[in-house]
Amino acid sequence: MANPQPNQDALDFGPEGAPYGREFQFSDADFRSLVALARERTGISLSDSKRNLIYSRLSRRLRALGMMSFRSYREYLNSPDGEQEIESFINSISTNLTKFFRESHHFDHLRDRVALPFSQASSSRPGQRLRIWSAGCSTGEEPYTIAAVLRRGIPDVERHDVKILATDIDTDVLSKGANGEYPAASIDDIPENYRSLFQPKGSRGTALVIGGELKSLISFRHLNLMVHPWPMRGLFDAIFCRNVMIYFDGPTKAALIDRFVEQLKPGGWLYIGHSESLLGTHTHLSHAGRTIYRRNS
Ligand SMILES: C[S@@+](CC[C@H](N)C(=O)[O-])C[C@H]1O[C@@H](n2cnc3c(N)ncnc32)[C@H](O)[C@@H]1O
Repeated sequence: MANPQPNQDALDFGPEGAPYGREFQFSDADFRSLVALARERTGISLSDSKRNLIYSRLSRRLRALGMMSFRSYREYLNSPDGEQEIESFINSISTNLTKFFRESHHFDHLRDRVALPFSQASSSRPGQRLRIWSAGCSTGEEPYTIAAVLRRGIPDVERHDVKILATDIDTDVLSKGANGEYPAASIDDIPENYRSLFQPKGSRGTALVIGGELKSLISFRHLNLMVHPWPMRGLFDAIFCRNVMIYFDGPTKAALIDRFVEQLKPGGWLYIGHSESLLGTHTHLSHAGRTIYRRNS
């Protein structure tokens, strides 16, 4: 009698790291090498539970490169020629889930504590500066949401120097963000009073496009948060770094928070993701609401 086929969900790897019924060899050594490279290049920590995910995401790269095994792929990545593949490797391993008005309490706070006070203080003084950074912006829904809140909260935004910087390590998601076209169903994530800033496209409204009113406030830029120093000059009034640090280990996260603090104006705001918290207390930050921190003056 033939051996029963192992359950693919429960057990994906044979004794030598050979996959059961899988297209490519994927050994422990391959996985460990890719984990180390991801950590070194992006700060992202991949736990053992991410094995299947990494296999399936990178299998596409092996196919595209005509490679027969993960061993060849990781050897290529670690060779001088492999530098050209690093971008696709990073784009493949990053997780980009996002949506418009995600964690909407942050945007209520942005409206009430940043946009409206700015509008009141600057109404008789054109040219005032306001800078917001969406760090780990993914496909752009977060910076476009920020732009929508600023548009509504600062009616004369054009008269001022208001800019949103949107950065990510993943070049594919950045192009999508800069393009600003989304599935029509994304409209459901957008509150009624903001919807007119997002236009349906096509005769049957098959897509949602971002108009110039929002686009003109945003610059999309490639930036790996792990690089030193960051290229930005000038401090931010608010930094959004949400659902990015969950992929980093404790020391990487702590070091990044210190750098965000340095990049914030005194009194500036730091918004982090719903499942994130600052480890212990931070000398220069005060807790200011659910996953909201303020740089001390
Ligand atoms: C889950 S998305 C979060 C998107 C958005 N901030 C939100 O909360 O909806 C995480 C993003 O962080 C980016 N990312 C991960 N590591 C990064 C790094 N070292 N530098 C810059 N961006 C990074 C990923 O490419 C991904 O687009």
